[in-house]
Amino acid sequence: MKKRILTGDRPTGKMHIGHLIGSLRNRVKLQYEYDQFVMVANVQALTDNFHNPEKVKESIGDLLCDYYAVGIDYDVTTVFIQSEVPQIHEIFIYLANFATVQQLSHNPTIKTELAQKGFEKSTPLGFYIYPIHQAADICCVKADLVPVGRDQAPMVEDCRELARKFNQTYGVSVLHEAQALFGASRNLPGIDGNAKMGKSLNNAIYLADTTEELRKKVFMIKTDPNRIRATDPGTVEGNTIFIYHDTFNENTAEVEDLKERYRRGTIGDVEVKQKLYDAMERQLGPIRERRREAEGKKAELLERVIENNNRVRAIAQEVVDQMKDAMKIRFS
Ligand code: TRP
Repeated sequence: MKKRILTGDRPTGKMHIGHLIGSLRNRVKLQYEYDQFVMVANVQALTDNFHNPEKVKESIGDLLCDYYAVGIDYDVTTVFIQSEVPQIHEIFIYLANFATVQQLSHNPTIKTELAQKGFEKSTPLGFYIYPIHQAADICCVKADLVPVGRDQAPMVEDCRELARKFNQTYGVSVLHEAQALFGASRNLPGIDGNAKMGKSLNNAIYLADTTEELRKKVFMIKTDPNRIRATDPGTVEGNTIFIYHDTFNENTAEVEDLKERYRRGTIGDVEVKQKLYDAMERQLGPIRERRREAEGKKAELLERVIENNNRVRAIAQEVVDQMKDAMKIRFS
């Protein structure tokens, strides 16, 4: 039997190239090797968007189009919607017995996100406990592997610990200890050089961006601030424009040549950016095309996903039943 994968995204907007590099490409590669589930995490999205349910709802269509665009094959990957599998909430409350407030408070992902959202003083409990809920997502199909970006590593670590504690406590092997599978070795910085790319940071290149938008954004990418003239020697290491070249330009000889001339101060930024734009367009052009196609069949994709929910519910119910057996609370 194929090993199982579960991963997911919060529907809070369109996906960007950070997602492409960090997780989407990996999923496309893995989907034929594994039994892959991709969850649209709309309940989790509400934990920091509860005032804005319209946005969460609208963004589901965006995600489905982005998935299609990058090559997630709806015939082999089971895409489903979190809110349609209430068994996840049941698993969540059982797992919560094995988490501690202290463990949650030390979760680096939560810490960073609390700071980003200005939630430190007044933290919504629903948000604070989402790592446990995410562990329930992973457990609901007994996933073996979780392909995510590096920022999610502590989440998967928490999930493993919860599963281990549950099994140990009841002397069972009901839950799997899922392993994280990372995409790129580093996160892609935003076009402003910020370590994280994100919508709220206004520094993202979206899969849905037109070629003109892409070009404009590439020409906005931050370069070496100490290099004022094309004849100044520049620094390549840690320079956002070269991180992008390393990530998107498959012509490595060209990249080496650009770096060499940049270091010596014999090249202008315009050439470096133009070549990056060309390289990115080669990769993102076909994705944009497919995305346009997906826009035309959003309703069909959604229907597909709604069908899948039944299947996932049945799988998750089995997990619930096994957990209830272990805890001696099953009466039917
Ligand atoms: N927290 C993830 C993110 O923000 C999304 C997510 C929800 C997820 N449930 C998951 C990822 C389960 C992996 C597994 O990107």
